[in-house]
Amino acid sequence: MTPPRSRDSAGRSNTGRPGGSQGHGGRSGGRTGGPRGGGPTASEGGRPERPQRGSSGTTKKSQPTRVPQERATPDIDMHDPDGIRLQKLLAAAGVGSRRVCENLISDGRVEVDGHVVTELGVRIRPDQTVHVDGVKVQLDETRVYFAFNKPLNVVTTMNDELGRISIGDYVGDRHERLFHVGRLDADTEGLLILTNDGELAHRLQHPQYGVLKTYLAQIRGPVPRDIGKQLREGVQLEDGPASVDSFRVVDSQPGKALVEVILHEGRKHIVRRLLDAVGHPVLSLVRVQVGPISLGDTKPGKMRKLTKEEVGRLYTAAGM
Ligand code: URA
Repeated sequence: MTPPRSRDSAGRSNTGRPGGSQGHGGRSGGRTGGPRGGGPTASEGGRPERPQRGSSGTTKKSQPTRVPQERATPDIDMHDPDGIRLQKLLAAAGVGSRRVCENLISDGRVEVDGHVVTELGVRIRPDQTVHVDGVKVQLDETRVYFAFNKPLNVVTTMNDELGRISIGDYVGDRHERLFHVGRLDADTEGLLILTNDGELAHRLQHPQYGVLKTYLAQIRGPVPRDIGKQLREGVQLEDGPASVDSFRVVDSQPGKALVEVILHEGRKHIVRRLLDAVGHPVLSLVRVQVGPISLGDTKPGKMRKLTKEEVGRLYTAAGM
């Protein structure tokens, strides 16, 4: 599987951290016809290269300033006669008007399968991968993405065999086969992403991709100062060590405290078990953020469609 892009020094996607960029951008495109990942060229706004100095410290004689060259034509078909014009697909995907999309293409801000395309005649298939300013654009209109606020006492299944209230009771009879990204305990409320996009769902859950989840937990207080350090350094649970990416006390009142826990782990009851392990069992738990997506003011039991921008940011967070 392709390793995720845009990792931080610990190998995690740069998303969801307090004060972080929430996963927007963070990719550098190649120029026309070239694959991504090269350093900046003069045409990308990097400084033009100067003549090299030799070891003697003198400028080498008659060494010309290197003019950045157009790289070879990409080895992929962008003129598929059965394809759809790139600007039309982008406009249909909600990126902007046809005119705006043409400008984005001419300005070199659009990549197809990793190659910047500046030509307006390009035709592609909807199964090709398109990024605008480094953010993936979902061209497949059958893909859907929702943020759902799971209420308390609802089980995280689409259809519960024991007849308990489940997510399926809230999503109704949507014709897409939606699935939930990860699970929340019945006694946890908060954000669940619902989608029919299997690869994104997999990456959002798998700790390898480092997508951060943010929880607010009520615990008994007062909270000793060293708890955050212990949790960040890691504690031993019955199924192995576990740690948080971030911990902070949000509010402290006599006898209880509200704490924020951010982690990229997905093991069962992980927040409850971590806080138990440091002597502060959870009294109530809410998930408020997954990668760049916040619960916001979506009420328990309600779901909202993610915007194109949010979907793009989720893709970036998942390294796609
Ligand atoms: N950790 C938990 O303990 N419970 C949840 O529902 C989610 C994360």
